[in-house]
Amino acid sequence: MNNTTDNPPKKNLVKEILAWKKKREAVILAHVYQPGEIQDIADFTGDSLFLSQQAAKTQAKVIVFCGVQFMAETASILSPEKIVLLPEIKAGCPLADMAPAEKVKSKIKELPEAVVVSYVNSSAVVKSLSDYCCTSANAVQIARSIPAEKEILFLPDMNLADFTARKARRNIIPWQGYCPVHNILTKEDVIKVKKLHPQAVLLVHPECRPEVCNLADYIGSTRGIIEFASNNPAKEYIIGTELGIFHPLKKNNPDKQFFPASKKMICKDMKLITLEKVLYSLQNLEPRITVPEDIRIKSLKALNRMIEIS
Ligand code: 13P
Ligand code: SF4
Repeated sequence: MNNTTDNPPKKNLVKEILAWKKKREAVILAHVYQPGEIQDIADFTGDSLFLSQQAAKTQAKVIVFCGVQFMAETASILSPEKIVLLPEIKAGCPLADMAPAEKVKSKIKELPEAVVVSYVNSSAVVKSLSDYCCTSANAVQIARSIPAEKEILFLPDMNLADFTARKARRNIIPWQGYCPVHNILTKEDVIKVKKLHPQAVLLVHPECRPEVCNLADYIGSTRGIIEFASNNPAKEYIIGTELGIFHPLKKNNPDKQFFPASKKMICKDMKLITLEKVLYSLQNLEPRITVPEDIRIKSLKALNRMIEIS
């Protein structure tokens, strides 16, 4: 839980960050899986889609991306003239790493007729090999936009592929990757928590296993989950996604109760960003994320197709 406001050293750190942000004409974007104190200093918080839209349209000179590598790369692809900073260069995504570019290339060769849709949780090179990008917020919409007779190779998340295939009623060939944070949640975990809170509404992310999604009242992106809980009259919710989301959920809905479907759903990479590292980034304009121009141009096509459809 955030305690920045009653912690004087942190308060000073935040003041310094805000002063440097102004000096650098920077914007701070933070994913909702970030630590609460990072979300609190951000200009925009949200899901992958919302943050990439902000990165594409910002007038700021510098983007400080409090998230993981693929998110900062996406920002750099969309806004190449901006300086994009990732305060912790080691913040990666194990799901994105499950689709190495060379393996993706050979799969595409095996399936020359397939339309390639990559989840934004993928490397810039994988995006450059793809026809479309998608996020968890628009995967179904993207799949529906592809002619029904076409086969779709969907990568790298097999659980999101399953959810998309069922919702969009499309023939999808899934890549066998998964997010370790979401895939850890089992049907048994959910049943246990449901027994403890029988009135609670179950909201899960589509990176969860199909048998978990089958039990849910709502399946959606992190932004979708926050909007659902904020607009629904129910007072109790079980949440099946990374625990960072509890920060905005509780902040926006002080009268409601939220229970984790599993306390193990923590993304270690997302928690690598700290206030100290954000300050260092702004002061030194490091670590910077850039994408080679040939890769950027090709991946931009797939990203722009997604943005046009969303
Ligand atoms: P969204 O915020 O797009 O729902 O994605 C979740 C995620 O796993 C980001 O790493
Ligand atoms: Fe990757 Fe999963 Fe962490 Fe998101 S939550 S950054 S998909 S490992």
